[in-house]
Amino acid sequence: MPASADAAWAPDSWRSRPALQLPHYPDAEALASAQDELRNLPPLVTSWEILALKRQLAEAQAGERFVLQGGDCAESFAECNSSVISNRLKVLLQMSLVLVHGLKLPVVRVGRFAGQYAKPRSADTETIDGVTLPCYRGDMVNAPAFTEAARIPDPRRMVRAHARSAMTMNFVRALIDGGFADLHHPEYWDLAWVGHAPLAHEYQRMVGAIGDAVRFMETLAGGQVHNINRVDFYTSHEALLLPYEETQTRQVPRQHGWFNLSTHYPWIGMRTAALEGAHLEYFRGIRNPIAVKVGPSVAPDQLLRLIDVLNPDDEPGRLAFIHRMSAGSIASKLPPLLDAVKRDGRRILWICDPMHGNTESTSNGYKTRRFDNIRSELEQAFDLHAAAGTRLGGVHLELTGENVTECLGGARELTELDLKRAYRTTVDPRLNYEQALEIAMLIVRKRGQIAG
Ligand code: PEP
Ligand code: CO
Repeated sequence: MPASADAAWAPDSWRSRPALQLPHYPDAEALASAQDELRNLPPLVTSWEILALKRQLAEAQAGERFVLQGGDCAESFAECNSSVISNRLKVLLQMSLVLVHGLKLPVVRVGRFAGQYAKPRSADTETIDGVTLPCYRGDMVNAPAFTEAARIPDPRRMVRAHARSAMTMNFVRALIDGGFADLHHPEYWDLAWVGHAPLAHEYQRMVGAIGDAVRFMETLAGGQVHNINRVDFYTSHEALLLPYEETQTRQVPRQHGWFNLSTHYPWIGMRTAALEGAHLEYFRGIRNPIAVKVGPSVAPDQLLRLIDVLNPDDEPGRLAFIHRMSAGSIASKLPPLLDAVKRDGRRILWICDPMHGNTESTSNGYKTRRFDNIRSELEQAFDLHAAAGTRLGGVHLELTGENVTECLGGARELTELDLKRAYRTTVDPRLNYEQALEIAMLIVRKRGQIAG
């Protein structure tokens, strides 16, 4: 029986549905005890932050904001440190500045962090030199080392992931509250090694112009312009590991219903978006704004059924589809979906993930993505939405503030030979700082063309 909007829901009702991509924990008692502990820990976010985000997403749906969602493919316990967190925040802040300035729209900033510790995999096992082991499913489940012990799912890892998420969130909140995002000091967000980035000059010119505008407004107002020294930042992750998400699902005073208080904005991955599946059942019952990754195999009718289950009341800001088709198939796969949703008059926020359809392997064995394909999918997305009379309301990117070489191309024209220099991801290849900034500038140019 497919998940239905009227059947009784509870934080654990997903257990009666087929659940994909979940680990098998060999020690049931250890699992129960980790879950008990997690149920009693304080939440990581609040219901009013979640509802504020939902209102902002409703504005993005209406074309009054643009959503920038980005961060690592997978966070790792080892990289929960101050420089990785602050560098990632710097890149996102710089990109959002480029977008605000160029699009003349407020930006909704959503990090893929503070909880992005569980990963879906295309195969359950991995074989190296004739040895087959269960695959790595993210630090929240098991460890990446290729040994039998490392790959056993350990429920204590959920407790560690919760703590690491809290530390990440705490640091981000402290930075932002302390004035890190103050427009009077965009130099706070400079990355030490960036000096000669190909686009640094264009960026610095824009920062200079913004500084002038801020000073002008303050002269006009005769004092500091209110609210220019802080921004909102929200968190998101793929809510894949339901035994964890269930424990973070709470009721709060003076609100009806249930909230997932581990993150503001959970999403359903492409591999777990089956209509009758456990993940859909879980998501339909929480009040957070939610998103679903939509790949090339989804048919228009299936998409409408997803909306029936996940947003039966057509609530503004509730549901986003993050399409991730590939540069080669977006032109044929996306338009029928846009037409169906438009024809049915459904309220959807459309976000483009130009990363996950464009993953490939190089001849020297690296998993990579070509900047040109990422750019092409994104540019086509803008055009296809314009042609369909729908609106692209945001982007979803995998990026890092570290100086990595994981994606090919970009202004510095990274080649296959460059990949080995600084290839650090444990899962998918990420845009580095320069490539990420380039994408932000490209969005501004493309939107300008469409509007013009
Ligand atoms: C991801 O976002 O890291 C991911 C696995 O994406 P998708 O579900 O779109 O494949
Ligand atoms: Co990924």
